Amino acid sequence: MITLYPIIDLRQVYKNQHITIVLIISCLYFLKIELHKNSIRNLMASKITLKHLVIVLCICQYVVLAISLPCDFNEKCRCTNIPQHAEMGREVMLNVDCSNRKLQDVPDLPANVYTLSLKKNNIKVINDYQFSLLRNVSELDISYNKIKRLNRFSFNGLSNLLILNLNNNPLPYTERAIPSEVFKSLISLKHLCIRFTSAIGTLLPEVALSNLKLLESLEIDIPLITPYKVVFSKSFDSLVHLETLKIGTCLVFGIKNDTFSHLVYLKNIYFDIICEILILPGAHHCLQKLHKIEMHFFSQYDVFSIVHAIKELKLTPVQTIVFKNTFFHGREEPYYTWNALASGLNGSSVQNLQLTGNNPVSLFPLSKIFPAPPSLLTLNLSSNKLDQFELELTNIQKLILRDNHLGNFLRLKSLNKHIKGNSKLKYIDISMNRIYKLKSSIFHGHPELRYINLSHNYLQEVLFDVSQANYLKYLVLSNNFISAFNQKSMRMFDHLSLNSNLTIYLLNNSLECTCKTLIFWKWIVLTRVNVFFDRRCVSEDGTVVRFLSTNKIIQKLKKECIAYTSFIIIASIVLLATLICIAVAVVYKYRWKLRYMFYLAKSKHHRHKASTDDKQYVYDAFISYCEHDKSFVINDCIKNLEMERNFKLCVHQRDFIPGEEITTNITNAIHESRKTICILTKQFFDSYYCMFEFNMARMESIYSRDKRNIIFLIFVEQILPQNMPLVLLELVQKDSYIEYPNDEQGNVVFWDKIDEALRQ
Ligand SMILES: *[C@@H]1O[C@H](CO)[C@@H](O)[C@H](O)[C@H]1NC(C)=O
Ligand SMILES: *[C@@H]1O[C@H](CO)[C@@H](O)[C@H](O)[C@H]1NC(C)=O
Ligand SMILES: *[C@@H]1O[C@H](CO)[C@@H](O)[C@H](O)[C@H]1NC(C)=O
Ligand SMILES: *[C@@H]1O[C@H](CO)[C@@H](O)[C@H](O)[C@H]1NC(C)=O
Ligand SMILES: *[C@@H]1O[C@H](CO)[C@@H](O)[C@H](O)[C@H]1NC(C)=O
Ligand SMILES: *[C@@H]1O[C@H](CO)[C@@H](O)[C@H](O)[C@H]1NC(C)=O
Repeated sequence: MITLYPIIDLRQVYKNQHITIVLIISCLYFLKIELHKNSIRNLMASKITLKHLVIVLCICQYVVLAISLPCDFNEKCRCTNIPQHAEMGREVMLNVDCSNRKLQDVPDLPANVYTLSLKKNNIKVINDYQFSLLRNVSELDISYNKIKRLNRFSFNGLSNLLILNLNNNPLPYTERAIPSEVFKSLISLKHLCIRFTSAIGTLLPEVALSNLKLLESLEIDIPLITPYKVVFSKSFDSLVHLETLKIGTCLVFGIKNDTFSHLVYLKNIYFDIICEILILPGAHHCLQKLHKIEMHFFSQYDVFSIVHAIKELKLTPVQTIVFKNTFFHGREEPYYTWNALASGLNGSSVQNLQLTGNNPVSLFPLSKIFPAPPSLLTLNLSSNKLDQFELELTNIQKLILRDNHLGNFLRLKSLNKHIKGNSKLKYIDISMNRIYKLKSSIFHGHPELRYINLSHNYLQEVLFDVSQANYLKYLVLSNNFISAFNQKSMRMFDHLSLNSNLTIYLLNNSLECTCKTLIFWKWIVLTRVNVFFDRRCVSEDGTVVRFLSTNKIIQKLKKECIAYTSFIIIASIVLLATLICIAVAVVYKYRWKLRYMFYLAKSKHHRHKASTDDKQYVYDAFISYCEHDKSFVINDCIKNLEMERNFKLCVHQRDFIPGEEITTNITNAIHESRKTICILTKQFFDSYYCMFEFNMARMESIYSRDKRNIIFLIFVEQILPQNMPLVLLELVQKDSYIEYPNDEQGNVVFWDKIDEALRQ
């Protein structure tokens, strides 16, 4: 059979009667054309036509059977055929819905009714033998009516009825309103609901109920009774299948040692609406089959009544305890609820604890929090407005923290208080927590993790690490603001998918299709991870692009990104070239400084710069000259300055240390001489080493001698200013030069002047 449910919800479409008829007719018409066009032989030959025909037949069958039409026996009710029963070749059975029709009486009904809803009408009475024809009804809903009393034979004939709902009727629990034999004919009944009967009597309709031998679940109010009377009396002993009890309206309900003594088969007890209970010692010793209990409200809301309740429950084999909206007073308790629960449940059989919709103030202490009881496997703490949570998880496998305010907390902290030994956590739900960033190591220490739900948060990126969760199967990231995965997380997920069948939900995020995310889209196509995502993405200019195939979007992006890539390459080259130019310029500008620094650093005589010049130098002057002026130096300088005036000169031919590099020798010589005298001729400017010496001396004066001038120029011949380098000209302007006169008289003055300059 072909199922058509996912295509269109036909029930919705066919609600309108006219559309329905038109559709049926067109269906049949189409079918007729199909048959006309193809002779039977062609029909058999053409498989495609046959397939069409089957589909059409299915549609038609569905249209005829599964839509609710006004019932032919009563315009006000809607009837739906039950296809399964029709197929079985039996009588067609009907689901009849007469809810919300302002009915005053129960309408006349045919025998083939299977379920009947009379919900939300104004029915006041159910007459004797009203339903006696309806042998096959299995479900009857008469809730939200005005029934004040039932008659002795009201339900006569309903021998197949499984579910009877009488909730929300003004039906008092009295012998007159509920005669003791009224349920006698309901021999199959499993579920009975008589909650929220606004006029509660003083006793339960126990004799009437005691007839329901197969009853499995009962929804009932607790009448206001004297403390001497047992609520569930001996009559309940006969309900040996009663497993589920849902308490409706009740005022303060004190649960004592005999309250449940006749309901020993109970497995589930729900005080699921506001019903103030008070659990007294000995109250639960008889509930030796108890499996689940849901509590809502303690009449004395203090830690002692919780401790009492827990102590009582510890006497039963209860596995699931639900506290829903229980602790919401927000009173600062001296003992915290959690600690009371945790210590109370230590050594109990409770595996599943739900604390939902409570006030966080009194729930969890900020420090000295007790570890989870060792029996606990599931802890549900949804909707508690928790803004911090740190617990020693002991044996917990499933932790639900949905709908809290943990976003800020989880940015920096983990959930597990001590990651000692191996955590057993398999399932964690921290959806709806306003999380915008998670501590990277948040899932560390939980090697068993299989399911992580982080949906409905504000995550923009995957920055957390799940690489240690080798069995991870589901990672739910839907409804966040993720634009793409980064390379690291893609590698991480790929690695995980080698061992386990990993599924990632990424629905309703803000996935981007830009050049930057191209790699992500390629990954999606190639990876073994099952990724569920919407077929839409946000492009570079912010528009939303819808697409059918991921390959198409990759192709489109590739085309766009070629231009982008070339742009990036060209821009990088231009940038690099500019940087190199700047660097070259800078190096050129400071070339002498750099060289000076370099040689100074290399020299063993490197010293910090002297701020005053009273230090001892090895030489009084270093003579810088080129080969061409050798004779002047040897014949005149050495004679006049060294021999006659007793200065100590440094002359490279004589004083440089052989074997040392020439540049190092020069730097050392300049550094160890008080002054540097340059013998200037045209050849000086052309000599590499002369200019080197001059520039080094310049640097020495700037960087080691506090800018004191240490250079003294001697012009041996006439040099025109335009033939001089700029830096030299500067010195000439500062007057630190002298010209060699080359005549007897002038020479005496000349050497005296130099003498004076060297003594400065
Ligand atoms: C309806 O009830 C009759 C009589 O009890 C029974 O024979 C018949 O099988 C029932 N039909 C269905 C569909 O249960
Ligand atoms: C219930 O408690 C009362 C005293 O509070 C005691 O007399 C009675 O025997 C107890 N009943 C059962 C069944 O334990
Ligand atoms: C739980 O019970 C065990 C043994 O009975 C005990 O060692 C442990 O301290 C208890 N834990 C708490 C939190 O009370
Ligand atoms: C994840 O959590 C959200 C919100 O609590 C829920 O609606 C959704 O069903 C969960 N997703 C899965 C795959 O379990
Ligand atoms: C992997 O998981 C996906 C989705 O949960 C499922 O459709 C698929 O069949 C699984 N594959 C294997 C090999 O288990
Ligand atoms: C998708 O997320 C936006 C906010 O990001 C939300 O308004 C919208 O309801 C979500 N849609 C679905 C289908 O969850």
